Amino acid sequence: MGMDKRKVLVVHYASPSGQLSEVVQHLTGPLTQADGIDCRHVVLRSREPQPFPWPILRFFDTFPECIYMDATDLEPLELDPEERFDLLVLAYQVWFLAPSLPTTAFLKNPTGKAVLKDTPVVTVVACRDMWLMAQERTKTMLAAAGARLIGHIALVDEAGSVGSFLATPLWMLTGKRGPLLGGLTPRAGVAQEEIRASRRFGQRMVEALRDDRALDGNLLRGLAAVHVNTRLIATEKTAQRGFLVWGALLRKLGPHGARARQPVILVYIVFLVLLLVTVLPVSALLKTLATPLMRKRIAAQVAYYSGPSGE
Ligand SMILES: Cc1cc2nc3c(=O)[nH]c(=O)nc-3n(C[C@H](O)[C@H](O)[C@H](O)COP(=O)(O)O)c2cc1C
Repeated sequence: MGMDKRKVLVVHYASPSGQLSEVVQHLTGPLTQADGIDCRHVVLRSREPQPFPWPILRFFDTFPECIYMDATDLEPLELDPEERFDLLVLAYQVWFLAPSLPTTAFLKNPTGKAVLKDTPVVTVVACRDMWLMAQERTKTMLAAAGARLIGHIALVDEAGSVGSFLATPLWMLTGKRGPLLGGLTPRAGVAQEEIRASRRFGQRMVEALRDDRALDGNLLRGLAAVHVNTRLIATEKTAQRGFLVWGALLRKLGPHGARARQPVILVYIVFLVLLLVTVLPVSALLKTLATPLMRKRIAAQVAYYSGPSGE
C-alpha cells in the first residue's frame, strides 16, 4: 500500500472581484480537508495589478492582448519545476473569449509547463457564460505543455445569457454586483448555491485519489460539470473573429495602454454596441428557426464542447 500522500496542485488567478477564489475555496474544500491528500494552492499574481472597478477604456484596451494571448508578467511562481502532482486543478476566468491574462501567463510559463507535463488536469471556469472559445485556447496550451485534460467544469452567471449581458460588464465597470438600476439588471455572477454545490467535484476527486482509481475522462461523469449552450457557438466564433481583426490593428498602434490606441477603442465600443443591437437579435431569431433542422449537428457539438467529462 502506498503510504505517500497523493498530491494535488490547485492554480488560479485571484482577481480583486474575488469570485474565482470563492469557487476554488468551495470546490477544493474536500481536497484540503482530506487526510492522505496534500493539496497545495498556487495563487497567480500579475506584476501589473488589475484595476477594480475597471476604467472603461482600460477594460476594452485589454482585449487585443487577451485574444492574441500575450502573456503578462507574473510574480515568481512558488513552484519547483521538478515537482510532480497526481492531479492539477486549473481554475480560470474568461477575458474576451480567452483565458484571463494571468492564466495564459501560467500556461506559457516554463515552470508552469514543466509542472503540467504528463499531469492529469481538470479545468474549472467561472465566467459570465461564454467560455467555449476560451476552453479551446486552454486545451491548445495544455496540449503544448504535454498535460492530459481529464475533465472540465463550467460555472456561469445565474442571470443567464440575456440577464448577465449588462449585469456582468456593469459589475466589472462599477464594482457593484447588483441588482442595479432599480432591479432592471439582475445580480451579476455565479449563484451562491452553485458555488457551494461545486464541493461535489472536490469530493469526487478525493474518492478517486483514495481508491487509486485511474484518473481519466470518467472522473467527473454524472456530476453535471458542464452545460453547453449551443446557441453561443456561432456567436463566440463571430465575436472572436472581430476581436482578432480589431486586435491586430490595435496591437500595431502600440502596446497595451498606448495613447494611440484610445480613439480606436472608442470607435470599437460604438461599433460593438451597434452590432449588438442589430445583428444579435436577428441571429437569435434565425437560430431558433434553424434548431429543429440541426439536431444531429447540435448533439455532436455538445459532445465535443462538453468533453472530456460530458454534461
Ligand atoms: C476584461 C474582462 C473580460 C471578460 N470577458 C468575458 C467573456 O468573454 N466571457 C465571459 O463569459 N465572461 C467574461 N468576463 C467575466 C469574467 O469571466 C468573470 O465572470 C468575472 O471577472 C468575475 O470573476 P472574478 O471575480 O473571478 O474575476 C470578463 C471579465 C473581464 C474583467
